[in-house]
Amino acid sequence: MGNKLKLSKPEQGLKGELQVPGDKSISHRAVMFGSVAVGRTTIHNFLMGEDCLSTISCFRKLGVNIDIHTDKVTVEGNGWDSLKEPTEVLDTGNSGTTTRLMMGILSGRPFHSVLIGDESIAKRPMKRVTDPLKLFGTAIDGRDEGNFTPLSIRGGSLKAIRYKLPVASAQVKSAILLAGLQADGMTEVIEPQRTRDHTEKMILEFGGEIEREDDTIKVRGRQVLRGAEVYVPGDISSAAFFMTAAAIVPDSRITLKNVGLNATRTGIIEVMKRMGASMEVMETPGSGERIGNIMLETSELQAIEIGGDLIPSLIDEIPVIALLATQAEGTTVIKDAEELKVKETNRIDAVVRELKKLGADIEATDDGMIIKGKKSLRGAEVHSWGDHRIGMTLAVASLITDSPVYVEDADAIKISYPRFFEDLRKLVE
Ligand code: S3P
Repeated sequence: MGNKLKLSKPEQGLKGELQVPGDKSISHRAVMFGSVAVGRTTIHNFLMGEDCLSTISCFRKLGVNIDIHTDKVTVEGNGWDSLKEPTEVLDTGNSGTTTRLMMGILSGRPFHSVLIGDESIAKRPMKRVTDPLKLFGTAIDGRDEGNFTPLSIRGGSLKAIRYKLPVASAQVKSAILLAGLQADGMTEVIEPQRTRDHTEKMILEFGGEIEREDDTIKVRGRQVLRGAEVYVPGDISSAAFFMTAAAIVPDSRITLKNVGLNATRTGIIEVMKRMGASMEVMETPGSGERIGNIMLETSELQAIEIGGDLIPSLIDEIPVIALLATQAEGTTVIKDAEELKVKETNRIDAVVRELKKLGADIEATDDGMIIKGKKSLRGAEVHSWGDHRIGMTLAVASLITDSPVYVEDADAIKISYPRFFEDLRKLVE
């Protein structure tokens, strides 16, 4: 990598309509469920980003037939038992979701497998998943007592567990549910803070059973899932970059079409509304995951405080929310977001360091950041830290800087949004 991209302010505001690519979390899960279900799964609007391609490559190494067509992916599933011991290590690339959810699937498979990823994955905590999987009876280990990749798993028969999540993490919850689907008995996961529920929804979509009572999710073991037709909604985490861009670039008015509006993911909409964004959300009726269109205009923004239970519903949007806050009147406080430190990079450090270079008044705290607006931003040389969401945040910042922004390692954006710059161009030309 090491490429440096020059980005300059557009001559006019953002205008027009756009359909952002498919949701990353849902695309991963559709391949995973398709691989363990019986029958063909067709995934429409699959996200062809590097992370989701890592998931496909891992399941191919487990013997699953997966075809990639231009606009869809087909997975020929033959049930849990059809997964085969891989002859190679399973490389999850930069993807935390692939790594953690695969651990749940592999823990119930009676063979040996090894998971590795890139430099960033090697630093991300895995004990949060290996600990509960050991309680199921899986032989799983990794560097530093099971906390880091490479991870080695010898799966086998599992006994259902009851487990209270120590961190608000959909990846940990999902790994437990995927093991629970294969275990003997009823697995219960207690989720003190609500996190994205795509796994639960997909279990139902694939003909399985799952229940939720208050903060407890219950899943019966030894379930046989059936292949399904999955329509992946646009990723609200990708839409967030254009929502922010339209709000802060003068003379903008855009519509983002068919965006996923799952209530566990829409924290960004709530935050932007509270900040005073000129926005309209029009939900399209239908079954399955909620979707709709989001219309956004240039807005006068006010600072707010963001924390508590809202955090899991916008955790991936915090880098771009920090940028939004630089253009809001007053002091924005983001708290209760320590999880940012263990994402693709330490996103508190990355956001604060890079936005400061552009002239933002932003300070890191132990669990978030404090941003004083409204500040005009200037061009500078900045770095994505190899993190797709930091790269896109900086690219959006370049739309309002007085001189060009040079983004080093902008290629990282391909992890979740390979056609990001093409889509941006559609709105500014
Ligand atoms: C994801 C869950 C979140 C999120 C990640 C995708 C998922 O991670 O940050 O980008 O697909 O389950 P955590 O579960 O670690 O919070």
